[in-house]
Amino acid sequence: MAVRKMAEGVEWVGSIDWSRRLFDELIPLPSGTSYNAYLVRGKGKTALVDTVDPTKVDELMVNLARAGVKRLDYVVVNHAEQDHAGSIPMILGRYPEAKLVTNEKCAEMLSLLLHVDKERVMQVKDLEALELGGLTLKFHLMPWVHWPETMVTYLEEEKMLFTCDFFGSHLATAALYADEEPGVLEAAKRYYAEIMMPFRSSIKGHLEQLKKLEIETIAPSHGPIWRDPSVIMDAYREWVSESLEDVVVIPYVSMHGSTEKMVEHFSNALIERGIRVKPFNLAVTDTGELAKALIGAATFVLGTPTVLFGPHPKAVYAAYLISVLKPKARYASLIGSYGWGGKTAKMVSDLVSAPEREIIPPVLVRGYPNREALKALDALADQIAERHRSDPRIRR
Ligand code: FEO
Repeated sequence: MAVRKMAEGVEWVGSIDWSRRLFDELIPLPSGTSYNAYLVRGKGKTALVDTVDPTKVDELMVNLARAGVKRLDYVVVNHAEQDHAGSIPMILGRYPEAKLVTNEKCAEMLSLLLHVDKERVMQVKDLEALELGGLTLKFHLMPWVHWPETMVTYLEEEKMLFTCDFFGSHLATAALYADEEPGVLEAAKRYYAEIMMPFRSSIKGHLEQLKKLEIETIAPSHGPIWRDPSVIMDAYREWVSESLEDVVVIPYVSMHGSTEKMVEHFSNALIERGIRVKPFNLAVTDTGELAKALIGAATFVLGTPTVLFGPHPKAVYAAYLISVLKPKARYASLIGSYGWGGKTAKMVSDLVSAPEREIIPPVLVRGYPNREALKALDALADQIAERHRSDPRIRR
C-alpha cells in the first residue's frame, strides 16, 4: 500500500501486482504489472481517475483511506476493462455519493460488464470539462486504444494526461517515473506489440490529436509515469509509422529436426545477404517477445512441419496471433517439411494474408531437406533480399 504525491492535489493511489504472470489468460507478464489509479483533489470536489483490478481493491481502499478521502465525488472511467474498472462496484458501495464520469459507449459497457446502476453514471462528451475547484479535468474520446470506448483525461492546470492503457507498460516496479527505472521503454514496446499494434491506424490519428495539447506528464494506468512525454510519444510515432526494418522474423516449430534444419539454413542464407533474422522456436517462445519483434519487421516467414494434413497447431497459433496483431510486415512466406501431403500452404496463407502484404511462394519439402531443398531456400532468401533492397519503406 502506498500513496504517492505527484503534484499539488494529485496522488497515485494504485496497486503494484508483483506476482501476476498472465494477462487475459493470454499475455505473459514476465515482470508483473501495475494498475495505476490517480486521486485528483480540487478545492471543491474529489475525483478518482480509474480504479484497479478487483483482486487489488483492498489496496485501493486502504490507499484512499490513508489519503484521508472521506467523500469521493467522481470516479473517472477511461476504459471499461476489468483491470481498471473491475473495482467500481466496491468503490460505489464504499462512497455512496460518487458518480461515474465517462462517455456513452463506456457507460453502456459498464452496465453490461459490471451491472452498474445507470443512476450512478454521469455521461460526458468529447472535450467536455469537469471543474473540481482550481483543477479541471477535460475528456478526450480516443476509441481503440484498446477497446472502442476508451478515452483519455487531461488535467489542464498540471498539463497531465491520464491515458489508461495508452502509453502503458506491464511492469511491476517501485519506480513511479519511467526515468527512474531502466528498461521501461522496452516494456512499453512489448506492451504496444501485445495490446496496441492492432489499432495502429487509430493510434496514428490520436497522436496527431494529442499534438494540440500541451503535455508535461503522461500518466498511464499500467507501468511507470512519463515525465518526459516525448520519449514515449516519439517511440509510438515510430512504431505506428510506415517505415520497416530490414528484418525477417521466423516463428517456427519442428518435430523431428527437418523444419529446424531448413530454418537454420534459411536464417544463415538471409544473414549472408545482409538481412537481420529473428527466429523463434514456438515450442519455447515467449509470445510477447515474438509480438515485439513483429512491430517493425518487413517480413515474416513461418516454419512448420505438416502434422497429418495441415500445419503444426503451434504454427497455427502463431499464424492466428499474427492475423489478430496485424503487424505491418509487407512480405510473408512459409517453409517446412512434410511426409505425404496436406493443405499446409493454403491454411497458413489464408491466416496471414493481409492487404498490402505479398505472400511469397513457400518452400515445402518432403522429408529431410536435401541439396535441392537448400537451394530452394537460398532462392527464397534471394527473393526476400531483392524485395528488401527495392522497397523504400525499409530502413537499411
Ligand atoms: Fe489495462 Fe485494456 O486494460
